[in-house]
Amino acid sequence: MSTAVLATRATFADVLDRLREHFVVEHNPTDAVWSPAELIRRLQGKHGVMSTGSERFDAAVLDACPQLRAVCNVGVGYNNIDVEACSARGVIVTNTPDVLTETTADFGFALMMATARRITESERAVRRGEWTRTGIHDHFAGSDVHGATLGILGMGRIGQAIARRGSAGFGMRVIYHNRTRLAPALEAAAGASYVDKATLLRQADHLVLVLPYTPASHHAIGAAELALMKQSATLTNIARGGIVDDAALAAALRAGTIAAAGLDVFEGEPAIHPALLDLPNVVITPHIGSATLRTRRAMAALAADNLVAALGRGPDAGHPPT
Ligand code: DGY
Repeated sequence: MSTAVLATRATFADVLDRLREHFVVEHNPTDAVWSPAELIRRLQGKHGVMSTGSERFDAAVLDACPQLRAVCNVGVGYNNIDVEACSARGVIVTNTPDVLTETTADFGFALMMATARRITESERAVRRGEWTRTGIHDHFAGSDVHGATLGILGMGRIGQAIARRGSAGFGMRVIYHNRTRLAPALEAAAGASYVDKATLLRQADHLVLVLPYTPASHHAIGAAELALMKQSATLTNIARGGIVDDAALAAALRAGTIAAAGLDVFEGEPAIHPALLDLPNVVITPHIGSATLRTRRAMAALAADNLVAALGRGPDAGHPPT
């Protein structure tokens, strides 16, 4: 019996070719996200799937697709997958770490800088024809990045790569909070010091969120946390939307509790809380942290390799349920 796989979104031709060397492949040629019912329909008879964060794989989906043996996500985050439910059913789960670390750190730093220096806000004003003189004093004056205190919440690979940029490149004092403290050698390489969460919030001039989204990190930044931050501070989120309470953030930005936010991810994206869209002091991007062509290709290729490795032994591969 041949092994069949599904690719849920448009991907690179050479990646599809690699999959076709091993499997019978059905793929979505577009970027449209299938509804859960459509996903289940397409998964019938498939042994593996190359998935993205936009599709949810929970017990209901797995039970409706009993032949499924591997879910290989294109992305480092995998909060769209119920790993426990997969393990219980012998379904292998993989993600694509490492290949996107530096690209995503570049983006996080760029978004933090754009937020601090009001780049998109001032650009919008120019496009509206509002640049009639070159202003001095507080004309679109932002806050410095060099020499400031960079706070990082979540200190995995991407957090450490952002820390290196801040400490080595911009002379920043870098502080971080994480569930577990890094080993001294890793702290030294990142140029970062461990602090408790409240200290992080109180002292950061620029706070960047890089932690995984789990039930424990849901709304890790809400009204109470925002109230601890400096009025001049910026908040940048390149992790997952649900980590920030978007309604509380919009209220804080409107009230001047913090100065500005750079957001690449949103609760319920691609929908965005309307209050955020109305605010001038928010830089909004459409979840593009890892989006360079080279990195997106590397992620897709790794996900395809993961699928080949997971199903290499044929359609019955996977761990037997325990
Ligand atoms: C990731 O790699 O998790 C990115 O957010 C893309 O989903």
